[in-house]
Amino acid sequence: MKIHVFKNKEIASEFAYTEFAKNLEQGAHVFGLATGGTPEILYQLLRESDLDFSNCVSINLDEYYGLDGNHPKSYRYYMQTQLFDVKPFNTSYLPDGTDTNVQSQIDAYNQIIAENPIDLQLLGLGVNGHIGFNEPGSPFDGQTSLVDLTANTIEANSRYFATKEEVPTQAYSMGIGSILKANKIILLAFGPKKADAVFGLAEGPITVDLPASSLQTHPDVTIILDEEAASQLSRDSYIFHE
Ligand code: PGA
Repeated sequence: MKIHVFKNKEIASEFAYTEFAKNLEQGAHVFGLATGGTPEILYQLLRESDLDFSNCVSINLDEYYGLDGNHPKSYRYYMQTQLFDVKPFNTSYLPDGTDTNVQSQIDAYNQIIAENPIDLQLLGLGVNGHIGFNEPGSPFDGQTSLVDLTANTIEANSRYFATKEEVPTQAYSMGIGSILKANKIILLAFGPKKADAVFGLAEGPITVDLPASSLQTHPDVTIILDEEAASQLSRDSYIFHE
């Protein structure tokens, strides 16, 4: 695991952008993508770039159960507005949050992942250490599932909704087993609220109690942090970029 720490999230996101551009140039074709506040600057840089993803495939980590892709809080809507409307991919997959036939949606998403091995997987990090919506306790070999969101995830995501009651309580999520099959993984985490989870993922024990600690078992992981998110790490564990 390589850990890069930057003065702020703007500079950190530029580094992440450079990694994206480099991987695209080197032939990466299938991109695993993430939603949330963390990758917004990266997506802005991608929108403003001259990179061309029109021959590429994207596979997103998750989608709220019950939300249609036109719903402004759905992750499909987020991806369209943050990236795809400006930088279309040949094909972009997200779970279908409106599919109430849970097993068939799970099977369909697992098949998409199996048919499109992920070259580069982008991850954010939950305050509780989740990756995708794989909450604490999720198995490291798990595939797609319908997840019950934990109270702290609902609390964290309520900032995007008018009231906490409007936050969906379930989501389809790619499993940790599928995430770990990606050829290369880049995780971004910014701000003081992520510092404990960052410490756990990098220096804590490998445990299902902190899903991101599973990344310690992957051979090619790059962690990109701002100073606040890195504040609990021991100084010799990361590269600091002035
Ligand atoms: P955030 O969410 O980027 O909005 O902080 C990250 C996550 O929960 O995975």
